[in-house]
Amino acid sequence: MKVTVSRKAHFNAAHRLYRKDWSFEKNDAVFGKCNNPNFHGHNYELIVSVTGDIDEETGYVIDMKVLKDIIKTKVEDAFDHKNLNLEVPEFKTLNPTAENIAVVIFNKIKPSLGNPKLGLEITLYETPRNFVSYSGK
Ligand code: NI
Repeated sequence: MKVTVSRKAHFNAAHRLYRKDWSFEKNDAVFGKCNNPNFHGHNYELIVSVTGDIDEETGYVIDMKVLKDIIKTKVEDAFDHKNLNLEVPEFKTLNPTAENIAVVIFNKIKPSLGNPKLGLEITLYETPRNFVSYSGK
């Protein structure tokens, strides 16, 4: 029997989507407003879902206090109120799209869960209507 538990979190961050090896015109055509050279911000909403067996002793899949602390340390402290392109090392050479941010968050959280058998899924909302998910596949 597998049960999924989820915790929501939030961070604000700035980014610019572009490729250095493309002209401004091509970046503008592909990335639109997200190619603004002066950056722009998003209110990112994050859902971290952990799937596993219910522990017989505790009745938990994972202690939510532990999950909360992992999200705070690995994501909120690292990304909140940051310029992703300039201040977060993972995006020095990686375009900070919602897709890539979700993968980076997955890779930061997964090793901290402690139990490799636990499944992890990251859902990241860049706007209330646009969201991506990644579960390590
Ligand atoms: Ni954007």
